Parts: sequence; C-alpha cells; structure tokens
Amino acid sequence: MAIKDIINSKKCLFICNGGSCIKMNAEEVTQAIRKSIQDFNLEDEYHTIRTKCMGRCDDAPVAMLAPDNIWLKDIKHNQCDLLLSEIELNEVKESDNFLYKMGEATINSNSVPTKYRTTIKK
Ligand code: FES
Repeated sequence: MAIKDIINSKKCLFICNGGSCIKMNAEEVTQAIRKSIQDFNLEDEYHTIRTKCMGRCDDAPVAMLAPDNIWLKDIKHNQCDLLLSEIELNEVKESDNFLYKMGEATINSNSVPTKYRTTIKK
C-alpha cells in the first residue's frame, strides 16, 4: 500500500486505465507520465491516479488534469515529456493531445459532430 503525502500537491492527473485505454497502451502511458513528473522534479506538485473508464474511449488513452479541468487524448508514452512541458508552460490547449476544457463549447475530437469540434491552429 502506498501513502503519498498530498499536502503539497497542486495538480492531480487522472489517467484512464479502463479497458479501451489499456488496449491503447495506457499502462505504458501511466508509467511514462510518472517518470516525466519524476524527471521534471515535480513529484510534490503532481498526484497521479489511475481510473476506470472515463467515458471517452474513442480518444483513448485519455487523462484529465485537475483542478484545470483539462482533458487529454491520444497520449503516447513517448510524448509525455513534451506533454508535461506543455502543461507547465500553460500551452496545453495548443497540444495535439488537448481534448477538452470543461465548460467550453467545443471538443478536439473526431468522435463528436463537426459543430462541436475545436480546431487547433498551429
Ligand atoms: S476506457 Fe478510457 S475512456 Fe473508456
């Protein structure tokens, strides 16, 4: 059993480890994100939690960053350093992995009708 001191945690990353996400390498992604957090020396600031299905299987593997309420999609294990940099630099909404920010009217996914899709401009 692990006991993490969460008193200094500022962000929590919920990483889906449901069936569809596991099929899309969520285990490798989970390990890679945790390694990136360690390598960036951000272990005190971030807490990661594995979840069951988060309801966005078409965008697997997905994660949700709290308290920013930002959803991430199609995460590849070899993108986690870049993704963490984008989060830290507040540039995650321009990331290929950006899916959705709760409260916004559009979502960056092909699995929703066109009128609800975000267009990421690079
Ligand atoms: S299994 Fe991850 S969103 Fe459904």
